Amino acid sequence: MKKVLLIGADGMLGGELRERLEKKYEVTGTTLQTLDITDRDAVLAKVNEVKPYYIINCAAYTNVDGCEVNYELANKVNGLAVENIAEAAKENDSTFIHISTDYVFDGKLDIEKIYTEDMTPGPISAYGKTKLVGEQNAAKAEKYYILRTAWLYGLGGKNFVKTMLKLSETHDELKVVCDQHGSPTSTTTLCEIIEQIMEKEPAYGVYHSTNEGFTTWYDFTVKIMELAGRKTIVHPVTSEEYKQMNPASSDRPKNSMLSKEKLKNAGITPSKWEDALANYLKEELK
Ligand SMILES: NC(=O)c1ccc[n+]([C@@H]2O[C@H](COP(=O)([O-])OP(=O)(O)OC[C@H]3O[C@@H](n4cnc5c(N)ncnc54)[C@H](OP(=O)(O)O)[C@@H]3O)[C@@H](O)[C@H]2O)c1
Repeated sequence: MKKVLLIGADGMLGGELRERLEKKYEVTGTTLQTLDITDRDAVLAKVNEVKPYYIINCAAYTNVDGCEVNYELANKVNGLAVENIAEAAKENDSTFIHISTDYVFDGKLDIEKIYTEDMTPGPISAYGKTKLVGEQNAAKAEKYYILRTAWLYGLGGKNFVKTMLKLSETHDELKVVCDQHGSPTSTTTLCEIIEQIMEKEPAYGVYHSTNEGFTTWYDFTVKIMELAGRKTIVHPVTSEEYKQMNPASSDRPKNSMLSKEKLKNAGITPSKWEDALANYLKEELK
């Protein structure tokens, strides 16, 4: 059995991934309490002790709006600490799988077009900036996969779908942004992608790793209400209108549609976002 060091094993993605990987790998999971990735010596010691074939980093500072006010801490966790892991991976000949985000792009790409892995990032939010530093550091590992995911939701964590479901219990109407385009992604789909990357071992590098298909937060919410059988009416608002209602919210890219061609060329085909959402809701609403 190959050894896996799973960092951030109690997060929304990490928790589900741990359960799945334990069936096929010898997994050592760490949490903020057992391994703070900003502690370089601790990271090196843990990797030297486990000597994993794969190191998977699911740990991050994920509060997008929070990154604007806690930039230093966010950059430490999302950016600088990733170098500790990459260094330890290189020293132990481990393959490093790091999770990144669509928010590394500025979103100014024409809405008729989609982002490929070779396009130049240009983050517009503090979160995106710190995650881009993380990508640059992850690439210092000799063997690495950077998986850019987006609009992530899963059973084991706070996320947009849960927030909308909760709001629908107390609100007859909701206002949701209609001019930001991307791919909602379930943690189950992302786990499947990670497992296939581990099995197929395609060429090292960056892979866009989301569910298939594109939508807006508004249309995503309409679908959530429809599938969950909620009567709440969803109204579209522009990013500018939303910002006026929530001045402390971070800017988000209008176009964060990621091409999955590279992933598909590696033999990995993610399911459609609507199907993944329906499967998730079946579990969430049980
Ligand atoms: N959620 C999204 O919409 C989304 C979108 C695109 C990309 N991503 C990326 O996907 C990955 C997984 O996200 P997620 O939603 O599963 O995140 P999550 O649920 O917030 O989990 C992140 C975990 O990292 C831990 N952590 C924070 N600081 C740490 C440190 N210094 N050392 C070790 N662990 C630390 C957190 O612990 P505490 O909870 O105790 O702080 C938490 O358990 C992240 O890389 C994220 O950037 C997420």
